[in-house]
Amino acid sequence: MSQQLPPSADWIGHPTVDAVFDVVRDTAAEVREALPERRAYVEGHNPSGEKVRAADEYADELFCERLLALDSVGSYASEERQSAREADDGGEYHLALDPLDGSSNLTSNNPMGTIVSVYDEPVPTGGDHLVAAAFVLYGPNTTMVVSDGDSVDEYLIEGAADEGDDGRKLLREDLTLPDDPTVYAFGGRRPDWTDGVTAAVEDLEADRLKLRYGGAFIADVMQVLTHGGVFAYPELTDSPEGKLRYCFECAPVGFVVEAAGGRASDGYGDLFGTDPDRLHARSPVYLGNEELVDRVEATLS
Ligand code: AHG
Ligand code: MN
Ligand code: MN
Repeated sequence: MSQQLPPSADWIGHPTVDAVFDVVRDTAAEVREALPERRAYVEGHNPSGEKVRAADEYADELFCERLLALDSVGSYASEERQSAREADDGGEYHLALDPLDGSSNLTSNNPMGTIVSVYDEPVPTGGDHLVAAAFVLYGPNTTMVVSDGDSVDEYLIEGAADEGDDGRKLLREDLTLPDDPTVYAFGGRRPDWTDGVTAAVEDLEADRLKLRYGGAFIADVMQVLTHGGVFAYPELTDSPEGKLRYCFECAPVGFVVEAAGGRASDGYGDLFGTDPDRLHARSPVYLGNEELVDRVEATLS
């Protein structure tokens, strides 16, 4: 007799994935509470060669333990771990997390996030194998955006006066990109942009889009989902793959943006056209209003 699932909040109408998102909601509250005491760097680097804060490590441990405890979870991978951790008793979903996105924002007290990918096969694999994706934004409020690939919903998950009995309050249902885009965010240093990227930015600026870049992918993407525009961590002269990790950052957020009516590209075609060859593979990423992403692609090609 399989374990009776606790009653889940109906996140995407798929009880076993909803149970994953319940755990994300509850764990995110503990992660946020733990941030003030975990600002310092710890020894060593993550598989992408980046320094790790105590908060990155704590968030990763908590999400791993809580999510692997679910029957439906077969493995847990994260950008903080060399390889995935398998569940003892199997499970149909394979999770890939960025436990704390934008953690360099911690000491400056700027927003950060958590990104959760639900794949139907072990990672590394392509975004076509995403069943669902979600991200938490630790901003002035703690919010959670979830998608089944067809639509996007945004919830307040903490502290709402009239929070439902399922620990959340619906803020925006079927969230879609606005038609009149106003913001853009391109990562990397301008001197390191390729000529194509520089030309693409100049085209956006000629279109009177305003720069909104805060150094945390999830926070910057929420600007685009709210105001319309384009986010990119582009190809760079010294790093043609850009910076963001395909399985943990680009694919899940591209999945959400496309479900919100936008487009996600690697600069030369659909982001989901390619399969990463390794777990921590990076990819250039351009996502937002379809017409703008098409224009960026045309400029780069
Ligand atoms: P993480 O903290 O998970 O490593 O992610 C940081 C990423 C992403 O959140 C953000 O868009 C980008 O790094 C910012 O990079 P720069 O510091 O080069 O702007
Ligand atoms: Mn990140
Ligand atoms: Mn991270």
